[in-house]
Amino acid sequence: MRVYDVIEAKKQDRELNEEEISFFVKKVADGSAADSQIAAFCMAVYFNGMTDEECFCLTRAMAESGTCAPRPKAEGVYADKHSTGGVSDSTTLVLVPVLAALGVKCAKYSGRGLAHTGGTLDKLESFPGLRVDLSPEEFERQVERVGGAVSGQTSETVPADKRMYAVRDVTATVDSIPLIASSVMSKKLASFADIILLDVKCGDGAFMKTAHEAEKLARLMVSIGSKAGRKTLAAVTDMGAPLGDNIGCNAEVNEVLQILRGEKENDLSELSLFHAAKILQAANGCSKEESIEAVHECVRSGAALKKLAEIVSAQGGDGRQVYGNFPLAKNVFCVEAKEEGWVDVSALALGRACAALGGGREREGEGVDHAVGILLKKRRGDHAEKGETLAEVYYNRDQGEGLALAESAFTVSDKKIRRRPLVRAFFGGERR
Ligand code: URA
Repeated sequence: MRVYDVIEAKKQDRELNEEEISFFVKKVADGSAADSQIAAFCMAVYFNGMTDEECFCLTRAMAESGTCAPRPKAEGVYADKHSTGGVSDSTTLVLVPVLAALGVKCAKYSGRGLAHTGGTLDKLESFPGLRVDLSPEEFERQVERVGGAVSGQTSETVPADKRMYAVRDVTATVDSIPLIASSVMSKKLASFADIILLDVKCGDGAFMKTAHEAEKLARLMVSIGSKAGRKTLAAVTDMGAPLGDNIGCNAEVNEVLQILRGEKENDLSELSLFHAAKILQAANGCSKEESIEAVHECVRSGAALKKLAEIVSAQGGDGRQVYGNFPLAKNVFCVEAKEEGWVDVSALALGRACAALGGGREREGEGVDHAVGILLKKRRGDHAEKGETLAEVYYNRDQGEGLALAESAFTVSDKKIRRRPLVRAFFGGERR
C-alpha cells in the first residue's frame, strides 16, 4: 500500500477501511507522508466526507499516534470539557475549580487563542509564573493531588493531529466536519477522561456558522466518544455574540474571578455552571436539581475560588491573586451609540478587534498582550441612548484597525433584537 493509493481511493469517494486509515496516519506521524499528500487527503475528505466508521478509525489512529498521559492511580471519575472556540468563552476557568471542589477530577487539556478566538492557556498565563506545559506525569500527579489541572498537550501527545492541523490551516481545509471531529476527539481520547463534555459553538464567532452544522459536528463527536467507551455529552451553544462581558486575557480572568467571588452573574456564569452540573450529574448519578444546587452552592460558599487558588499555586502561580484583579492597558477608547435604539454586537468583529490590538494572535507562536481588553457595557438586545457607552476598549497600541473594528462590531437600530437561547441543543451520555 502507498500513501498515494489512500489519497486516490478517497478522491474516488471510496470508503476507506481501518487498515488504510491506520497506514496513512502512521505515515503522517512518522514524517514519511509529504505535506502535499496530507493536503490532498484533507481536500478529498473536505469534498467527499467520511462515514462515521471511517471518522472513528481516523480518530483512533490519530489518538494512538503519540504518547498518552497515564491514568492516575486514584479511584474516581475524571472529566474533560472542550469548547470548539469562541469569543469571551472562559467556561473552563469557572468549571474546572467548581468540579474539582465537588470531587470530580478535571483533567483539562486546553489550547491557545488563534485568529479571533481566545485560548485558555493564554488566559491562565495572566497569573505570572503559572506553567501550562506540564509533562504528562506532572499533569497526572496534579489531577490526583489537587483534583484539577489545565495544561497544553505536548507535541508528542497526538503528533498526527499536529501535522494535519498545520497543513489544514494553510490549505483551507479546517472547516470540514469529519476533520474537525477527528482532530478534537483524537486529543480527547489520548487523555484519560471518563466523561467528555463538548461545547460546540454556532454563530458568526464560531467555526460552525449555523446550529444545523454545529449539531452535525456535535453528534459525530458524541458517536466517536461513545464508540471509544467514554461517556460523551455535547451542547450546541450560541456564539453570535460574545459569551461573557469581557474580551482579552486579563479582562477575562477578572470576569472569572468576579463570578467565582459571587460578584457577577451573566451568560458566562450560566453556561459554565450548566456544563458543570451536567458533568456532575453524569459523574455521580444525582438528579438535575441536586447537581444544579451543588454547583451554585460551590460558588456561593467560596469553595470553587479556593480550589482555583490551589490549582494556580500547583502550576507555579501565586494563588493569592484570585482575590485581586489583573491590570488593563493604559489607553481607553469608548465605543458610543451613534443613535438611540436596540443594540446588536458581533462576536467575530470584537474577537478580531482584540487580536488586532495585540490581545490575540494571527499566527501560531506569536505573543499576546494580556492587558488588552474590551469590556462590554451593552449586550445584544439591550437598549442604548444616543452617546451611551457600548464598550470600553483598553489598549497599548493601535495600528489603525483595532479600534475601528471594535466600533464596527456594534449596530444600534430601531429594530428590537431578539436574544437567542444560550443552549440550542444538548445530547449524548450513553456508552456503547
Ligand atoms: N480545534 C481542533 O482541535 N481541531 C480542529 O480541527 C478545529 C478546532
